[in-house]
Amino acid sequence: MWCSRTALGRLQKITPCTVTGFHRAMSMLPKVYVTRKVPPAGLEILRKSGQVQFEMWDSDDPVPRVELLKKVKGCDGILCVLTEKIDAHLLDAAGPNLKVLSTMSVGFDHLSLDELKKRGIRVGYTPEVLTDAVAELTVALLLTTSRRLIEATHEAKTGGWGTWRTLWLCGHELANSTVGILGLGRIGVAIAERLKPFKVKKFIYSDVEPRPELANIIEAEYVSLDELAKESDFLAICCALTPETHGICNWNLFSKMKKNAIFINTSRGGVVNQEDLYEALSTGRIAGAGLDVTTPEPLPTHHPLFTLKNCVILPHIASASYTTRNSMSALAANNLLAGLRGERMPKELKL
Ligand SMILES: NC(=O)c1ccc[n+]([C@@H]2O[C@H](COP(=O)([O-])OP(=O)(O)OC[C@H]3O[C@@H](n4cnc5c(N)ncnc54)[C@H](O)[C@@H]3O)[C@@H](O)[C@H]2O)c1
Repeated sequence: MWCSRTALGRLQKITPCTVTGFHRAMSMLPKVYVTRKVPPAGLEILRKSGQVQFEMWDSDDPVPRVELLKKVKGCDGILCVLTEKIDAHLLDAAGPNLKVLSTMSVGFDHLSLDELKKRGIRVGYTPEVLTDAVAELTVALLLTTSRRLIEATHEAKTGGWGTWRTLWLCGHELANSTVGILGLGRIGVAIAERLKPFKVKKFIYSDVEPRPELANIIEAEYVSLDELAKESDFLAICCALTPETHGICNWNLFSKMKKNAIFINTSRGGVVNQEDLYEALSTGRIAGAGLDVTTPEPLPTHHPLFTLKNCVILPHIASASYTTRNSMSALAANNLLAGLRGERMPKELKL
């Protein structure tokens, strides 16, 4: 149902003969489609604004594509999440009214940026508000993988825990290690800041070019991708998924890594060639991998990576804290409203 809180409030006060007037007033508000049940903070902002009439796909599961294509028709704004592919087909279905697209994510690999730019559609996204939560989860995943926590709890629960043994369930420690970061952006720096107190010896990073202003914060050294692979004891992938980074973590990279290396990916599944990763893990080419993101998502339960003890797989939960998901939805709502007013968005993606 299309709704705006102010308009609904007015509806309660008016007599039946003014209902037509109400509908007219409602229909003049910009029309917005929200593609998923978003956390309450953002919803509240949209409702209270009285600035838009919006309809929401009121479910935790994605809106079917056919339904989405119908619902966006004639919309002025769309608030989406990362599972919705915003491509030429969808933008054509929405039509010429569409002025603003607001995604509740910092990643924008689900958006056809060229098509949005061509049509003059402004794009809002949600950087920064999720950086802490993602960095925190990345550290948790790194320790879980390197100290073999999933294997350990399984052994404890299923009778594998015998006497104390000298090398049983040994892993790799952060103290005195070299931590490599591929893509030193907001999240990469935040991860390094959290890892520093674990007595990491050295941070190195690779990116499209040196980023001294960020690298200085964590005293990280810029290296080539080859050196990053060769020198890292822990390698955290933090780059955006782009045509250039698609499949960048492949056999060429894994084959250069240390045998004791731990590979961690909390960016996007598409940066990893999963067949090559399976090969690297199953042959002991590298020691372990922790993945928060995969291709596809969800990863089918029969996928070979699930058979490996040295691979920890999480269901894309890096930003999943109540505080962060609410901040993301609030920022997405504020981006959308500002864009529709023709004002500066709190966080706009430069196209
Ligand atoms: N797992 C999750 O739930 C989750 C949550 C938030 C973000 N993410 C992912 O994390 C990514 C990083 O977020 P951020 O806020 O740090 O973004 P950011 O833009 O601050 O950092 C991305 C970095 O990747 C670098 N990069 C781009 N192309 C590269 C290339 N070809 N080679 C090397 N580096 C390259 C950029 O220069 C930049 O330094 C997002 O794009 C998103 O995909 C995942």
